[in-house]
Amino acid sequence: MSTQPIEITTPAILTTIRSTPATFLMCPPRLYDVNYVINPWMAGNVHASSRTRAAEQWQRLYEAVSTIADVQLVEPEPGSPDMVFTANAGLERNGTVAISSFFHPERQGEEPHFRRWFELAGYKVIDTPRATPFEGEGDALFSTDGTRLWVGYGPRTVASSHHTLRRIWGIEVTSLHLIDPRFYHLDTCFAPLEGGYVMYFPEAFDQASLARIEAYYPLEKRIIVTESDAVCFACNAINVDRTIILNNISAGLRHQLESRGFEIIEVTLTEFLKAGGAAKCLVMKLSRSVL
Ligand code: ARG
Repeated sequence: MSTQPIEITTPAILTTIRSTPATFLMCPPRLYDVNYVINPWMAGNVHASSRTRAAEQWQRLYEAVSTIADVQLVEPEPGSPDMVFTANAGLERNGTVAISSFFHPERQGEEPHFRRWFELAGYKVIDTPRATPFEGEGDALFSTDGTRLWVGYGPRTVASSHHTLRRIWGIEVTSLHLIDPRFYHLDTCFAPLEGGYVMYFPEAFDQASLARIEAYYPLEKRIIVTESDAVCFACNAINVDRTIILNNISAGLRHQLESRGFEIIEVTLTEFLKAGGAAKCLVMKLSRSVL
């Protein structure tokens, strides 16, 4: 979606319509830490991150995101060190938010905090069933034209949660099976990009899922990420119009993206990689700013 003004000439007047600016929800890392191990990245990193460095890195991400979007903030809460990863709060579209049901008890305490934020902000809030874990935008990404919802399952979100999403928004849902424990959320290995592109790490998916991706995105629209970029969370990218914000990537991938017209902003996010997250995990897309 373009944020450029669109000029429409009518017989009587000249009207300028500006599409809504992109909006993201972020959570300052004041209480961020690696306190437990619920993914392979956290192993060996318990209490190994620096809160000062994390704050500096998050601030740079916040500033970069603020240049292309509105940013709303949710306060961090004691006992929820992973709350910085707001992508997992839920999934929002058209003012309705499906609140996550986390797979791991370690993160379930975040649910009421995020629910309260959305209620106060005036969203229609829907709780997803505890029996069928669903980890929000971490595992559910709309195609950039908004017509399709790609939903990951396996390590966290279960496939049987997908029909709830289909019912809520009446949208076509395509399930993708994640088979590599390092890429435990869809947004760690798959990024729909403006212009009909997709950037992804194929080895993270089973054959049937790859076939679904390839059936939707023609070859010239697929940007394949190497393992060395994938483990630096290259696919964990924030994209608004032609701008992509992500952790540090190889010169080769940067060139591939730039040659397709994208402007790349790299933000070092090493402290968050220790918890298994990077740029995209630290934001949740909202369809509107103020209700
Ligand atoms: N430590 C967090 C977890 O394992 C990291 C979440 C990353 N978020 C994401 N959207 N991939 O749940």
